[in-house]
Order: sequence, then C-alpha cells, then structure tokens
Amino acid sequence: MKAIVTGGAGFIGSHLVEALRNEGVEVVILDDLSAGYEANIPQDVKLYQFDVKSAGAYRAVIEEQPDVMFHLAAQADVTKSILAPVHDADVNIGGTINMLEASRTAGVKRFIFASTSAVYGNIQKQLIKEDDIPDPISFYGTSKLSAEKYIQLFHKFYQLPYVILRYGNVYGSRQKPKGEGGVVAIFSEKLKRKEPITINGDGSQSRDFIFVKDIVTANLAAMRQQQNGIFHASTGKSTSILDLVECFRQLYPALDVQFTSERAGDISHSCLCNEKTQKQLNWKPHTDVAEGIKRTWHQI
Ligand SMILES: NC(=O)c1ccc[n+]([C@@H]2O[C@H](COP(=O)([O-])OP(=O)(O)OC[C@H]3O[C@@H](n4cnc5c(N)ncnc54)[C@H](O)[C@@H]3O)[C@@H](O)[C@H]2O)c1
Repeated sequence: MKAIVTGGAGFIGSHLVEALRNEGVEVVILDDLSAGYEANIPQDVKLYQFDVKSAGAYRAVIEEQPDVMFHLAAQADVTKSILAPVHDADVNIGGTINMLEASRTAGVKRFIFASTSAVYGNIQKQLIKEDDIPDPISFYGTSKLSAEKYIQLFHKFYQLPYVILRYGNVYGSRQKPKGEGGVVAIFSEKLKRKEPITINGDGSQSRDFIFVKDIVTANLAAMRQQQNGIFHASTGKSTSILDLVECFRQLYPALDVQFTSERAGDISHSCLCNEKTQKQLNWKPHTDVAEGIKRTWHQI
C-alpha cells in the first residue's frame, strides 16, 4: 500500500507519516515547506517540494499512483486567513481541488481530508454533531468548508471514496505556537522560558483538545474502513483554559498566570461529539488531556 501525505513536514502530518511507516505503508510527502520543516521528515522518505496548487504537485500524484491520499497541507492559521483571504482560499480550496483532480486521475482509492471544528463557528451547543449546520466565522473555516463540499461533489460525480475528519484542537510535540489550538504550544514555550502564561478573558472558554497521536489513529481508521462521510476526530470532552493551566501546574508548580482582556471574535465553547466516529470508523481516542500534556511537555 502506498500513501501520499500532503503537509507531511508539518506538525500533524509528520506524526502521521511516522505511524504509516510503522504500519508498513510506503509513504511519499508533498509539502512546500512553507510552514513545515525538513527536520520533521525521515531521511528515507521521498519529498516532493511543491505547492499543492501547482502542476508539479499534480504530476507528482500521477507519477506516484498512491492508494491513499491524506490531504493535510493547508493554510492552517485563522489569523492569517483574516489578513490574507485570497491566499487562504487559493491554498485551502484551489489546492484541494488540484489534489482531488490528481487523485481521481491517478485512481486513488481513499481521499482523507483534514478539516476542522472551525467550520461550525460559534454554534451554541454543548456537543456538536456532524449533521449540525456549519456556520464558519473565519475565512479559514469557510475555505475548509468549501473544500469539504468539493470533496463530496468529487465523490458524487467521480465516485472518489472519501473521509472528511473534522479535528478538534490538536496538540502535541512539533506543534508551533501559532494557528489553531496553539495554546498548548504557547503555554509550553512560555513555561520552558520560565515566563508567566497569559490567559485572554477569565479562562472559562473551553475546547475539545485532542492529542496528536489520537488524530493519527483516526486517520489510520479512516484509511482502513470503507465508509464515506464526515466524521469528528475529537474527544467529546470539554476542557477549559483553566483546566489546561491545572494540567501544566502539575508539571511546573511555579507556574505564574496573568489575565488579559478577551480576544474579539473568540469562540467561547466548542466540543465535538465522537459517537459516529466510534461506531462507523471503529475508533476512539485514548489519551486524556492531563496525560497528553505530560507527554507533550516531556517531548519538547
Ligand atoms: N493543529 C490543529 O489543531 C488543527 C485543527 C483542525 C484541523 N487542522 C488541520 O490539520 C492540517 C495540518 O495542520 P497542522 O497543525 O499540522 O499545520 P502545519 O502548519 O504544521 O502543517 C501544514 C503543512 O502544510 C504545508 N503546506 C502549507 N501550505 C502548503 C501548500 N500550499 N503546498 C504544500 N504544502 C503546504 C506546510 O509546509 C506544513 O508542513 C491542516 O489541514 C489543518 O487545517 C489542524
């Protein structure tokens, strides 16, 4: 079995590459290294250094004829999407269409896409389900949702099998303190430098924080099962920023916290139900947030 991982030099992609190789899957990476690092790539893994929008990237897929396409390469920073919406849409929509076109031409058997809880925007629900109506409040959420629609239409018109995984807020080693879910990376970096950590607002805002190794196993489950559709890759558990701080305090008791004003446009609460994924993809997460933060802390 052969897989292409776009974005394989990035945070989540590089963990996925490792796991696929451990499973005996031949892996090729497609990444322009705009936000990823060559150091994240094992030496014997082939890298096509192309933009996913490019003809070079298209040709690489045709040349490699992979069985599975994991499409993770993206403009993955919410703030950047607000500042540069054209670039965000070019990469996240245009790049995805290019990879879809290449995948159907190359006869890919499964197209697995990294989507996000950001598609839901500020939906007021304790536990969001996959059939709740998305209503993104950033260009990033909008471009990811558009990419999802293209994937579903490629399935309709060309029978390209697909899984869309909407991730919660992912954390773990190799994450840079930026973009979505970067709060664990930001806190870790501050504490390693013995600086106080800053909380925007009162810290009661909560997210579905999921450890990167659990995201990797969700991708492997999506590769193995035959279902097409949209699935949450999430814990189904809500963790507040204050809860996170307590996890860090266990590892670093001298931790100092400062509070500052709330960030405009921040989502107050987001938690994704994972029952459908458990039932249909036969997957569940295994790492609770205290354990995940401990592992992240010791790895960085
Ligand atoms: N980190 C999270 O919490 C989170 C949550 C939900 C969804 N996601 C999604 O998961 C995927 C991976 O995210 P990540 O956190 O590992 O981000 P990342 O920035 O670490 O990785 C993205 C990778 O894509 C590459 N890339 C970016 N633009 C490219 C382009 N035009 N052509 C080729 N390669 C390009 C980058 O160089 C990088 O290696 C993204 O699609 C992101 O939207 C992440």
